[in-house]
Amino acid sequence: MTTLKGALLCGAAAMVATGAAAEELNLICSADVVICEKLVSEFEASHSDIDVNMVRLSSGEAYAKVRAEARNPQTDLWWGGTGDPHLQAAQDGLSAEYKSPMLDQLTDWAQGQAETSGFKTVGVYSGALGWGFNKEIFEKKGIAAPQCWSDLLDPALKGEIQIADPNSSGTAYTALATLVQIMGEDEAFDFLKKMHANVSQYTKSGSAPVKAAARGETGLGIVFQHDAVSQAVEGFPIEVGSPCEGTGYEIGSMSMIEGAQNPDQAKVFYDWVLTAEVQNMMPDAGSFQIPSNASATPPKEAPDLSQIKLIDYDFAEYGSAERRKELLARWDSEVGSLPLQ
Ligand code: G6P
Repeated sequence: MTTLKGALLCGAAAMVATGAAAEELNLICSADVVICEKLVSEFEASHSDIDVNMVRLSSGEAYAKVRAEARNPQTDLWWGGTGDPHLQAAQDGLSAEYKSPMLDQLTDWAQGQAETSGFKTVGVYSGALGWGFNKEIFEKKGIAAPQCWSDLLDPALKGEIQIADPNSSGTAYTALATLVQIMGEDEAFDFLKKMHANVSQYTKSGSAPVKAAARGETGLGIVFQHDAVSQAVEGFPIEVGSPCEGTGYEIGSMSMIEGAQNPDQAKVFYDWVLTAEVQNMMPDAGSFQIPSNASATPPKEAPDLSQIKLIDYDFAEYGSAERRKELLARWDSEVGSLPLQ
């Protein structure tokens, strides 16, 4: 006859034997894979009872996965990536309301993101859009350092620009929405069609273009400025550019998934990742965004947002389902469908 104590001991022995934790958390991570892996390993080290299954997906891909799984959610929590698709998920009823006890420790912009979404998403970091260019390639080819969005139309840059596809990438969607807000919609699409002559590739992930520039595969990548900084810090000949006309920025966000199978574990991660202590680890993984916990220390390498000409990015409008769908459909038909040179 098996006693209760015996059964418990057997169970514990089986867990030790298989190394299995009792609980699980299914996480989509939409920032750079290095910070995604760091967060998972730090979390598992401090929460040995929870096993994290993490998948790294760009922001638009993450939105599509959460949407596709709506009837049978396989994801509990979505951390990182630009805020617009998180806002769209909130509007579409794909994410769940959660008021973390950490909320009042966050900056105004992070709390504002929560309020805009009815507390279905929250800001975890922010950073400004711009570009990174390979100064050795520019010097060798005698190309002047671009100062403004308009400089990206210079025929000398033919084949030298990479930017992601805004369907998969939140970075590229931020660029699209930024240009629309700066120039007006028709003018922004004219600009993108002209810039297409200089584009060699629309990548899937937002930071890939500056990684390619760092390795000399292209001259310039349109990316978040902190992603260009990461390459420069690693020793690549990358210079960071901030457009003279002004630029948009992201409120990188986090959302609990509606109907999640492991909501309690998701809340544990959610509250943990909003602490100053955890956000202060981000630079160790080469992530130089501005943290959302007001007591966390912005990395010394982070581009100084007060020195960048930021537009008053309208997150409510450009994160709305209608606007995002409409702009992406127009990009597909007017830009994405053009042949690459
Ligand atoms: C990089 C940046 C993040 C950003 C993310 C968006 O990882 O460091 O700040 O949120 O890109 O990724 P995506 O692939 O959707 O453009």
